[in-house]
Amino acid sequence: MKVPFGTISITEQSKSLISSILVSGRVSNGKYVREFEQKFAELTGTKEAVALSSGTDADALALAVLYDFGAKRMDEILVPALSFVATGNAVLQAGFKPVFVDVERETLNINPMLIEKTITKKTRAIMPVHLMGKPAKMDEINKIAKKHKLFVIEDAAEAHGGVYKGKNVGTLADMAAYSLYIAHIITTIEGGVVTTDREDFAEILRSLRSHGRACKCKLCVVNTNSGYCQKRFNYGRDIRFIFERVGYSCKMNEIEAAVGIGSLKNCKKIISKRRENLLKFIERLTEFDEYFTTIHEEKNEKIGPHAFPIILKEGLPFTRDQLTDYLDKNGIDTRDLFTSMPTQCPGFSFLGYKLGDFPNAEYIGNNGLHIGVHQDLGEEHIDYFFKTLRDFLKKVA
Ligand SMILES: Cc1ncc(COP(=O)(O)O)c(C=O)c1O
Repeated sequence: MKVPFGTISITEQSKSLISSILVSGRVSNGKYVREFEQKFAELTGTKEAVALSSGTDADALALAVLYDFGAKRMDEILVPALSFVATGNAVLQAGFKPVFVDVERETLNINPMLIEKTITKKTRAIMPVHLMGKPAKMDEINKIAKKHKLFVIEDAAEAHGGVYKGKNVGTLADMAAYSLYIAHIITTIEGGVVTTDREDFAEILRSLRSHGRACKCKLCVVNTNSGYCQKRFNYGRDIRFIFERVGYSCKMNEIEAAVGIGSLKNCKKIISKRRENLLKFIERLTEFDEYFTTIHEEKNEKIGPHAFPIILKEGLPFTRDQLTDYLDKNGIDTRDLFTSMPTQCPGFSFLGYKLGDFPNAEYIGNNGLHIGVHQDLGEEHIDYFFKTLRDFLKKVA
């Protein structure tokens, strides 16, 4: 049996939209991207959604908005030490310095108790990650941010469908950045999106995704039948060649948006099936709690069912890599549960952190893994996973 990490279903609606887009020849960012943005915003419950070419761009551009609000290059952004490396990369790509904070073992998320001591005069924002879809402790984080006048940006890359104290993930801070990569719950194959209630932030995001241009209308007319822009020469020269800020090139295209529109239509079903799978995995792991821990869903939250994390307990007679090797050999796709970016990813060594600075992130980096909970998995795959786990433990424990 095979238990793949992810799966993608491109709907009939998306396929027919893609054909009509290809026939029309209007393939770059246009009306389908706008439709996708509008539907994504409706689903999340925010006023605005700005579609981009990846979740990493979503993180970086949300941060780059802060330059319009007084931030300076190499100001500091607080991020959890444990995340997919894109979180740290994005901070650097946006021209800021990542300042890392250790995570909690039980939630995998930034430990709010450790945040305040890392705040300096240069701190501009906190970017918590809802790792594995488990909402970060946003009340505590927002309270600290308010006290120190910091922005908060959710890295919600893995948290589609997550709910925290009755509010959707993506609505819990100044902005939220999602990934729409294939392994994620809502997908455009490659893609990302930033949600926000602030129209001024959304305007800047639209400028940033297109080289920092002065063009930032919500409804751009360029890629429409008329194609005539009344604003184009209102500024003394062509607005498309006025660059207001240092920008990026990371627009979503129409074909990706068409995949996303189909994915959004299916997403409630997908989230519900993935939640069912995740909760079964969590529940059945209790049989093995001598060996492993995982995350748990609190009463006041819903985990966005991204994947099922497993962390080995201390002092076991086997390693994470022996387990993942055995699972992989038996057809079960696994991923490490990421790494401590500052101390386990060589790219960040120039920041001067040393091994031991982030004990929880490093422990999870050495002892954590995650497996898929996607919509094409059913009871038989879950049974097979636990049977394989039992067989492994019989051999090694
Ligand atoms: C927590 C987190 N942040 C950011 C990203 C980056 O997203 P993308 O791969 O779409 O660039 C990912 C990707 O999976 C992620 O897991």
